[in-house]
Amino acid sequence: MLVLGIESSCDETGIALYDGENGLLAHRLYSQVELHALYGGVVPELASRDHIRRIIPLIQDTLKAAERQISDLSGIAYTAGPGLIGALLTGASVARSLAFSLNIPAVGVHHMEGHLLAPMLEENKPQFPFICLLVSGGHSMIIRVDGIGRYRLLGDTLDDAAGEAFDKTAKLLDLGYPGGPEVSKLALQGNSERYKFPRPMVDRPGLDMSFSGLKTYTLNTWKQAQKENDATLQTKADICRAFEMAVADTLAIKCKRALEQEGLNRLVVSGGVSANREIREKLQNLMKKRRGEAFFPRLEFCTDNGAMIAYAGAQRLMAGEEQGLNFSATPRWSL
Ligand code: KG4
Ligand code: ZN
Repeated sequence: MLVLGIESSCDETGIALYDGENGLLAHRLYSQVELHALYGGVVPELASRDHIRRIIPLIQDTLKAAERQISDLSGIAYTAGPGLIGALLTGASVARSLAFSLNIPAVGVHHMEGHLLAPMLEENKPQFPFICLLVSGGHSMIIRVDGIGRYRLLGDTLDDAAGEAFDKTAKLLDLGYPGGPEVSKLALQGNSERYKFPRPMVDRPGLDMSFSGLKTYTLNTWKQAQKENDATLQTKADICRAFEMAVADTLAIKCKRALEQEGLNRLVVSGGVSANREIREKLQNLMKKRRGEAFFPRLEFCTDNGAMIAYAGAQRLMAGEEQGLNFSATPRWSL
């Protein structure tokens, strides 16, 4: 089975070809980051227009890279939600029209299921069951995964998602967009001893998380530095370091608790924030100490991409799932 995957939920157009027998054949990504950077965040209308421009040439490019023809396709997977409605509709309508014209099935994939399964594209893939920490720009969830489509939500964020907290922190410190990689880059030069940020909600039982307080803590620390005439780049770096360490520690504490609660020792970490060096290291160490295993997607598949959608869609199509001709885009959709 040869499946074309189309991701267009936000500001990246991702296309990939996944083969049931030979795995991932080719993938292409076009990022709109520069387009939106001017505005300090994603402008939905610009995002949809750019997806329209990029999607067909990227499909052609991906087919060429894999030395396949469009007629070789046996199914199409597209991100049906959650995401920006206009952006989602672009991918959904291309996917559905192509599937109709080729007389092959199309399947709408949940974007977060794509993230959750992204580590399955690696050679060393996790066996079920496992605990998945899903941390992106819109979500922070801890999920028990017993198989494809068998997901149980154990913990969620009560306010900001982890990635959102990174992005807002970057904005407060005037570091540009997207914030996560900028905060992470500057944190490398930060002194880990200077500030100690709180670890939110770790003293309460349960697996829910909250990151908006950390953002306020960042703001107050920065304002204080400004008052003391210490608003330097080094201070920004020290704040970034303290912020990143607080997020990483909090996530590690929650993951440890989830693994203990469920009696499991395999941890999968995915979503844009799983690209963060400090978080990867901390969770690797946690699993080493527990003599368990940690699994991450390769860096380019942590953030949005077509490969994870092609993979998730292929699993669903191989299981016989198929949807009618109505194309669906669901901007809000729980996993
Ligand atoms: O998964 P993703 O590409 O899109 C969503 O589904 O939301 O995640 C994007 C999020 C953004 O908030 C971005 O700032 C964050 O992931 N991110 C990072 C890093 N790279 C991306 N956060 C922290 N450290 C990074 N290196
Ligand atoms: Zn995503």
